[in-house]
Amino acid sequence: MPASRILGTGHYLPPRVVTNFDVMKMMETSDEFIVQRTGVRRRRHAEADVSASDLAALACQEAVADAGLTMDQIDLVIMNTITPDHADPGCAFFLQAKLGLAGIPVLDIKQQCAGLIYGLSLADHFVRAGTYRHVLVACAEVLSTRIDGSNEGRNIAILLGDGAGAVVVGPAEDDSRRILSTILHADGRHAKALYTEAPGSALGRKEHVTKDDIDAGRVHFRMDGKAIFQNGVDKMSEAVVECLQANGLALEQIDALVPHQANLRMLEKIVERLGISREKVFANVEEYGNMASASLPIAFHEARQSGLIRPGSLVILVAFGSGFSWGSALLRA
Ligand SMILES: CC(C)(COP(=O)(O)OP(=O)(O)OC[C@H]1O[C@@H](n2cnc3c(N)ncnc32)[C@H](O)[C@@H]1OP(=O)(O)O)[C@@H](O)C(=O)NCCC(=O)NCCS
Repeated sequence: MPASRILGTGHYLPPRVVTNFDVMKMMETSDEFIVQRTGVRRRRHAEADVSASDLAALACQEAVADAGLTMDQIDLVIMNTITPDHADPGCAFFLQAKLGLAGIPVLDIKQQCAGLIYGLSLADHFVRAGTYRHVLVACAEVLSTRIDGSNEGRNIAILLGDGAGAVVVGPAEDDSRRILSTILHADGRHAKALYTEAPGSALGRKEHVTKDDIDAGRVHFRMDGKAIFQNGVDKMSEAVVECLQANGLALEQIDALVPHQANLRMLEKIVERLGISREKVFANVEEYGNMASASLPIAFHEARQSGLIRPGSLVILVAFGSGFSWGSALLRA
């Protein structure tokens, strides 16, 4: 079966910079707490009239141009977000309309911070099977619309930033640049370690959402921070080792590791656990915070721009998110 590769990457970050001192005006917290526990110093917030599909469309345009393609050469759009434009239909439809791609199939996936890994895996399989030639994978988040500054919500609110990243996957010309493996995992037993209770159909009543849901904070993220921290470090570290073993590689052969930008302390623990050289691990979480699924494609894009990743570099992408959902992708970039 022919191989696929990432043909192009794109990103978009809204211009408004929000510092920890700005966050201190929204909730009871401190720059010291945020920096010490998460490493985050700044993040971006979109303006109120900007949606996830708006951010995604800009990232997609850059990715398609970077791939040397025109938009009409895209055959499938896969989108991941936890902050869709509307409750339904899927955000991919709104993105597709903005990209002028009416008629081609679209697919929404809901894998939270692991969205890019799942999207890449699907794209790789579709391209290798010959079903679609060029697949656009977009991850976009407007997490600033999900900020809960109450004492219950602030452990996650301090991390959140807005942004979008996209990749185009298409046929590989030869073995020098290709996707070598994607390995996916999930464990729904932990679905409530980081979740939003309402709206929903499991609330023991017929109303999808009520005013009481809003008043009681059920519409906000609730996170068991310690469980997420520990499992994030464990699963991302294990996923890297699993990826190396599955491909018969040693850690020293890897040119770059690009992890989900959850939290700088988590990244430091992963570096320590794996024993990988810090210079090979890309991080931008200090600048942008945690942008859920958008973090990884933006980090990959910036790692290419920075020169850490060059054509032919051997790269592992790894992510962990709520669900739990996690996995890796190995590529010759
Ligand atoms: C969020 C995180 C920094 C919180 O650190 P923690 O030590 O686990 O914090 P806890 O929630 O146990 O709270 C510890 C104390 O800090 C306080 N606290 C929590 N968030 C705070 C904030 N933003 N500002 C100030 N104090 C805060 C709590 O109220 C608590 O106070 P108490 O001991 O008086 O009750 C940490 O759990 C973490 O990084 N988790 C992973 C988060 C993550 O990466 N999520 C995304 C996954 S994709």
